[in-house]
Amino acid sequence: MGFNIAVDGPSGAGKSTIAKAVAKELGFIYVDTGAMYRALALYVLNNHIPSGDEAAVGRAIENVSVTIQYENGVQQVLLNGENVTGLLRQEEVGKMASAIGAYGKVREKLLGLQRELAASNDVIMDGRDIGTNVLVDAPLKIYLTASVDARAMRRYNELMERGEDDTLENVKAGIAKRDYDDTHRALAPLRQAEDAVYLDTSDMDIPQVIRAIINLYHERRTSAWK
Ligand code: DC
Repeated sequence: MGFNIAVDGPSGAGKSTIAKAVAKELGFIYVDTGAMYRALALYVLNNHIPSGDEAAVGRAIENVSVTIQYENGVQQVLLNGENVTGLLRQEEVGKMASAIGAYGKVREKLLGLQRELAASNDVIMDGRDIGTNVLVDAPLKIYLTASVDARAMRRYNELMERGEDDTLENVKAGIAKRDYDDTHRALAPLRQAEDAVYLDTSDMDIPQVIRAIINLYHERRTSAWK
């Protein structure tokens, strides 16, 4: 059984950047569960499946395979054997992942894969329901968040650096909508697990957040040995 760190939080809180860096420092595997939802979302988009029709989405993904591989420590997602990692970060795919993530068949399909990875490896896994649903016994759970304004500003700066065209208001509205949808769905909504450590990163920089999590890990590891 590996040591498991569960990281949950809303979009744009910096979960993947932080989790990747922590994984590197601790020699853990970083499991990005959002990418698994995004892979199924890509399938739904490419095959023009009506995303509002839960039964149709459930049927369509039944025989689709999502598998994970690691290349130089970086997670690669295979959709029916094809490496789709480079296609998953598009805005449209994220929106679709949020929409179909509300469906039981979609969540069931990915749950086994997520638990398998955590059972046989030391992992830091991020998503929306890791501490509350996927790895309920994880010895360290983090709820990583930041204000909507701080998250919108970070995302807006990223888009500007990539030369994309958008307004701060628009980015902020998109983040607020995603927050609402992810926290209000009936199945496995985003919420802080009771035993999760709440980390608001609005006024922290990346190295400070990484350090805080590494310190928590050392505390937990030591107390687990007592
Ligand atoms: O973390 P992300 O932005 O890549 O996730 C995209 C969407 O996938 C997110 O808005 C909701 C869904 N998701 C989920 O429902 N459960 C998870 N554990 C991870 C992601």
